[in-house]
Amino acid sequence: MSADVEFFRRLVLERSGLSLGVDKDYLLHSRLTPLMREEGLATIDDVFSRIRADPRGLLAQRGVDAMATHESFFFRDTTPFDQLRDVLLPALVARCAATRSLRIWSAACSSGQEPYSIAMLLLEERRLMPDWKIEIVATDMSEPILTRARRGRYSDFEAARGLSEARRTRWMRREGSEWTVAPEVRALVDFRAHNLMDGTAGMGRFDLIFCRNVLIYFEQSQKRWALQRLAEVLAPEGALVMGSAETVVGLDSAFVPAMGLRGVFVQR
Ligand SMILES: C[S@@+](CC[C@H](N)C(=O)[O-])C[C@H]1O[C@@H](n2cnc3c(N)ncnc32)[C@H](O)[C@@H]1O
Repeated sequence: MSADVEFFRRLVLERSGLSLGVDKDYLLHSRLTPLMREEGLATIDDVFSRIRADPRGLLAQRGVDAMATHESFFFRDTTPFDQLRDVLLPALVARCAATRSLRIWSAACSSGQEPYSIAMLLLEERRLMPDWKIEIVATDMSEPILTRARRGRYSDFEAARGLSEARRTRWMRREGSEWTVAPEVRALVDFRAHNLMDGTAGMGRFDLIFCRNVLIYFEQSQKRWALQRLAEVLAPEGALVMGSAETVVGLDSAFVPAMGLRGVFVQR
């Protein structure tokens, strides 16, 4: 393995927490090939050496971004959203009644389907908190994916993935060949650039955090560190929702599984 490739692996780990073991060589090549072509470079090795020569440059940033998986869809895995509607939200409404405000963080939100799904669900349950201040902060480390998320425009395939026809009709508008998220849904979501490896200073306090399908790519120590930072901005009785294949068990982290709920964790 060349020193330039190893340098890139370390850069990705430091900047994003993503762990690229040697078994991920195919990923390095397939994800960096478009970048190579756009830059007019002859080989992938040229990409690695250019990144090493200028690790703070745009190519390095785009290379790190390219290694992330951006796969997402509306109401992904269904259960977390059913649990939000049936268990987490009623508890939050009872707990936050004094302030009549709710702050939710969708950390690593990719192209926006996760925060928009949360917003749709909260609007469907609006009667529980009619005049409350609701804020969904949605963050990702990748600027290009955030630009997509902010636009809130989805293809037929994306708009059909996870959204029932009833929800699509209620919360999306047909615009040309695409579907656009309705203004009242978009109004609840505030998209911001944020890297989980930079900690959580300045993020404020959240009642609920969704951090799904991202820590699974992190090395254990990075994962533990990131979880600790999330715990610091989560309200004491708040909850963390993770992906269906993710857990904090065995990590000695600040969280323990919430009894009777799948993929939900509370402070130890
Ligand atoms: C697979 S998507 C998950 C999207 C959504 N949470 C879901 O479950 O459908 C993972 C996202 O994590 C982002 N990501 C990866 N490392 C990150 C980091 N260190 N900080 C913030 N976002 C990160 C990627 O850019 C990508 O958009």
